[in-house]
Amino acid sequence: MQEILLNNGVKMPQLGFGVFKVQDGKEAYDAVTWALKAGYRAIDTAKVYGNEESVGRAIKDSGIAREELFITTKVWNDDQGYEETLAAFAESLKKLQLDYLDLYLIHWPVKGKYKETWRALEKIYQDKQARAIGVSNFHIHHLEDLLQDAVIVPAVDQIELHPTLSQVPLRTWLARHDIAVECWGPLGQGSDLKNPELLKIAEKYQKSVAQVIIRWHLQHGFLVIPKSSHEVRIAENFNVFDFELDKVDIEAIDKLNTDDRQGTNPDDYDKR
Ligand SMILES: NC(=O)c1ccc[n+]([C@@H]2O[C@H](COP(=O)([O-])OP(=O)(O)OC[C@H]3O[C@@H](n4cnc5c(N)ncnc54)[C@H](OP(=O)(O)O)[C@@H]3O)[C@@H](O)[C@H]2O)c1
Repeated sequence: MQEILLNNGVKMPQLGFGVFKVQDGKEAYDAVTWALKAGYRAIDTAKVYGNEESVGRAIKDSGIAREELFITTKVWNDDQGYEETLAAFAESLKKLQLDYLDLYLIHWPVKGKYKETWRALEKIYQDKQARAIGVSNFHIHHLEDLLQDAVIVPAVDQIELHPTLSQVPLRTWLARHDIAVECWGPLGQGSDLKNPELLKIAEKYQKSVAQVIIRWHLQHGFLVIPKSSHEVRIAENFNVFDFELDKVDIEAIDKLNTDDRQGTNPDDYDKR
């Protein structure tokens, strides 16, 4: 498994498994079980996904050694603030049946609250309850503001990023500040899978469009966390280490950017 070295020296598997919109109970339990069987070792959940308990059960039942796994969850918007975040973190750990997390993220930059929330994440990190801490959906201006008071630089910014939303300015800024780019909605939440240019490239490599897109993420050096609820697709999305895209195809995919978001613009998260 390829790993990315985070800015605090912790190594994170580059390809992980996301569980947004995977229903708590059998669906989430089965999906995580299949993912671990397929070889994924990083799982990305969040309190708001409502499936931490099933994710935790699947992890426990897998019998895989804790230190081989990389588990991420996120503090939800309603729980932001110092004390609230500490309480939410404890609740997430309990649901996941873990005694530490690998990565804890601020899910969205809640105005007027994210700095206090970050202070709580720093405490969690200093207390060694999370091996790394980071943010999600932070634009450059949120990060610049956060860094004015932060003691610890976020290890990761988890952002919407896929071929039709390639986020070059934010990516460039993050690289300059040694903050790893983690891509949510890496397949455009399914929308990029129908792109005719990507279909052509997939045909050339005799791979699926999903596999081609995941390779594009990997070859750019991003952390990537595709989601599926189907066993065959979960395995397919992990089966991407036996081919490489040529430079010309990477560049062709780079040109597909249209700046179109599938999700909410982080500046408007509170207007949904
Ligand atoms: N930080 C944030 O605010 C945030 C926001 C959104 C997501 N995330 C994280 O990022 C992860 C991934 O993002 P996402 O779930 O939104 O979108 P995604 O991974 O880009 O796309 C998932 C969609 O693609 C389909 N799919 C997956 N593999 C496929 C394949 N091989 N062939 C055909 N269809 C395939 C899935 O359908 P099936 O399930 O039916 O196979 C699902 O509809 C999430 O699960 C979550 O962990 C974070």
